[in-house]
Amino acid sequence: MKDLSIDERRARVADAMGVRAGVFEALSPEHGLTLEQADHMVENVVGVLGLPVGIATNFVVNGREVLVPMATEEPSVVAAASNLARMTRDHGGFVASATAPLMQAQVQVLDVADPAGARVRLLSAAEELVALANEQDPALVRFGGGVRDIAVRLVPSSRQTYVVLHLVVDVRDAMGANAVNTMAEAIAPRVAEIARGRTLLRILTNKADLRLTRVAATFDAAMLGGPDVVENMVDAAELAVADPYRAATHNKGIMNGITAVVLATGNDTRAVEAGAHSHAVGPEGRYTSMSRFEKDTDGNLVGTLELPMPVGLVGGATKVHPVAQANVELLGVHTASELAQIIMAVGLAQNAAAVRALATEGIQRGHMSLHARNVAVTAGAVGAEVDAVVARMVEARSVRAETAEEVLAQLRGRS
Ligand code: MEV
Repeated sequence: MKDLSIDERRARVADAMGVRAGVFEALSPEHGLTLEQADHMVENVVGVLGLPVGIATNFVVNGREVLVPMATEEPSVVAAASNLARMTRDHGGFVASATAPLMQAQVQVLDVADPAGARVRLLSAAEELVALANEQDPALVRFGGGVRDIAVRLVPSSRQTYVVLHLVVDVRDAMGANAVNTMAEAIAPRVAEIARGRTLLRILTNKADLRLTRVAATFDAAMLGGPDVVENMVDAAELAVADPYRAATHNKGIMNGITAVVLATGNDTRAVEAGAHSHAVGPEGRYTSMSRFEKDTDGNLVGTLELPMPVGLVGGATKVHPVAQANVELLGVHTASELAQIIMAVGLAQNAAAVRALATEGIQRGHMSLHARNVAVTAGAVGAEVDAVVARMVEARSVRAETAEEVLAQLRGRS
């Protein structure tokens, strides 16, 4: 892919994924999100922002070959994910699964004289509250979704013990925020009556820990660089399990992959990030690694990742943004859960790529040659000049604007 022109890449991807050639039209800046569409999306619009969309290759997820669009400004992310995905192929690629798409809303009740009594009264009224919530979204119920359960928690605080009702809703192929927020607001007055208090917050929780997606993959030891590399990768990953300072960076590497696909498909990056980081707090209350790496009996590296993945295919920017629609079409996914599983595979590959780089030559070499491309282009290099300027800067170990300008002047002086 690397050496192809953009048109050739588009043709190759359309052919491989069996999608119509025109799918890429929306990915050209002149045909993407229009100002008028943008103006309907948020307030005070003055323009739109372009970001590169690259295709991650080599992914096999639950036996299906998939080419994955990633929207990111960071060099080397797409190449790194593709490279590590290649190392899983002889071992079956990525195996993923997801729970039912259950989102939760919270209704906070204050000033309750008898919180324990309120809890039992609310649980006893579950049938009535579920029916009232379901009335808010008949379409969701028709599609097989709707409220599955209610739970009530007592949350002590410095001011009082809050009674917090959770509405557990199967949101099917939606991200679900709108559905659960509407339900929470609708049932709140009745919840206040039953609890004999007053309600305050009525909002989803982004700690979507009932909507989990899990992925595992075996990375080939020889392709990774041999047994020592596997050992070092396991140790590198273990530091993230043991140390929150390393966990934050390790997890950032996972989110490099996840956020890029979430964004490319028009989903809510902040919701996914909030869910992921809150899930990375272990049972003992300490922030830790989102992933685990182990060595199997053949000496290969087994990576696993489990996170909430609240993404949707209906509603929101996914439905209105032409680039998001094109990317969903490219992925060939029909359910939110399939999309979530692909996103998680990319997160795991991205993580393995970063850990491998760090456990071997370090991150800077790969980063620098890609960074050098940006520096060369900024200095004015075009066409074949870009590679020539990059090669000279890397050789001179000086990836700087002045060096790029100097090299460019020399090259041009020569021709
Ligand atoms: C850089 O964007 C991401 C890394 O820092 C992740 C990691 O350290 O694992 C390379």
